[in-house]
Amino acid sequence: MEQIDQLRAYGLFDARVPRYTSYPPANHFAAETDASHQSEWLHAVPYGAEVSIYIHIPFCKRLCWFCACRTQGTKTLWPVDVYVNVLLQEIALVAQRLPDDVRMARLHLGGGTPTILSPQTMTRLLSRVFDTFQKAEGFEFSVEIDPTEAATELLETLAAHGMNRASIGVQDFNPKVQEAIGRVQTYEQTHDCIEILRGAKVHSLNMDLLYGLPHQTQTTLVSTLEQVLALQPDRLALYGYAHVPWMSKRQVMIDSEALPSAEARYALTETAQRMLVMDGFRPIGIDHFARPGDNLALASHSGGLRRNFQGYTDDRAAVLIGLGASAISQFPQGYVQNRSATAAYTSAIGQGCLAGARGHVLSAEDRLTARMIEHLMCRFGIDVDALDAEFPQQRTIILQAVAELVAAYPAACRTDGTNMQILRAFAPLVRVIAGHLDRYRAGQMAHSSAI
Ligand SMILES: C[S@@+](CC[C@H](N)C(=O)[O-])C[C@H]1O[C@@H](n2cnc3c(N)ncnc32)[C@H](O)[C@@H]1O
Ligand code: SF4
Repeated sequence: MEQIDQLRAYGLFDARVPRYTSYPPANHFAAETDASHQSEWLHAVPYGAEVSIYIHIPFCKRLCWFCACRTQGTKTLWPVDVYVNVLLQEIALVAQRLPDDVRMARLHLGGGTPTILSPQTMTRLLSRVFDTFQKAEGFEFSVEIDPTEAATELLETLAAHGMNRASIGVQDFNPKVQEAIGRVQTYEQTHDCIEILRGAKVHSLNMDLLYGLPHQTQTTLVSTLEQVLALQPDRLALYGYAHVPWMSKRQVMIDSEALPSAEARYALTETAQRMLVMDGFRPIGIDHFARPGDNLALASHSGGLRRNFQGYTDDRAAVLIGLGASAISQFPQGYVQNRSATAAYTSAIGQGCLAGARGHVLSAEDRLTARMIEHLMCRFGIDVDALDAEFPQQRTIILQAVAELVAAYPAACRTDGTNMQILRAFAPLVRVIAGHLDRYRAGQMAHSSAI
């Protein structure tokens, strides 16, 4: 059988599967896990531990049609300023429950559009964060940046507060594609934003791109990539566009007839991968690329790559604290997501309570499955000895899972009797293969296409 037919037979072109930024995925979170768990798990963070902080800013001046992120449109800054006041209260509520000397390994501002904040409001927020949490050694501070909504003064404010990584939303430079996804952004706007960032000594720049967009072809994608490479990013994320209009209402504006087929999406990723590897990038996991000396590439090489709600990371902290409406916190004990609607989140914090409203308590079985899925997503294989060291007495269960995967996908998976590896040509199947271990898997329409 030809390789493409084998991929088809294994479901690559019609499966809908989670991206496994967590296991179980967030659509399995339930209301039994709430603020009381959040409070208990914050109290249980060990003395001197490193934690990472994610702050969600759910506001944008424009609402791009393709975007599936949790955000709301605003024409003025007053709701944003009010929201930041609530964030300051939430920081205090969280800090009260943590031991005094936790250290912050990472700070990430995401959204929505964090760069919508005025420089004064950003300074207020960051001063409170840095007054509350002391930085760990090797601390990193990253921010998601929309180049059309990033004033020079704001970018300089972020740099002055130590931002050392910026993630710039590009998606695609082709004007017809941009119009079809409701996000117009010129090459010059992106270029100018990058110049300001580099001028402010922010040296690690990531760019977000999408494949599978309406009217995107091999030719348009190659031309977008040429423009992107001319800007010399250090990292790239190339996500498959998730078209889920039944979940993300804005997407009804997108003409589904103009979307590339699943086979065309596959061809687009292959072309992009070839081009980026030729340019010297290392592929990281399913959708990232990094220069060989970059920390993400080093972590991928040494087995230290991790997957969390923000995608791929080399962050080793066991606790990720999500602040803001809909933000998810991750603890060794489980996950808790804050109330999603800004009003509901504001009301909880205003009453002096944490805002966790749904989540999941991890069982021992969940924990092992989560790590096996993380191995697959990060290494395209399962390292049995590494898992065995982490989960004593579970070797038989791990070997059983390996045997099941090899039996289910014999053309794609190889084992030397212990470890398992997905063959390079079958790497695009990794989410489908991971899905085989997922005991919560159901309701496929909740997820995006496997490719
Ligand atoms: C919070 S958003 C963008 C940050 C910033 N507001 C901007 O516009 O540049 C982060 C990233 O999520 C990705 N994203 C958003 N919607 C998506 C979708 N439907 N499918 C796949 N990726 C998506 C985009 O690549 C986007 O850059
Ligand atoms: S892509 Fe960015 S600016 Fe556009 S709606 Fe999403 S978060 Fe807002």
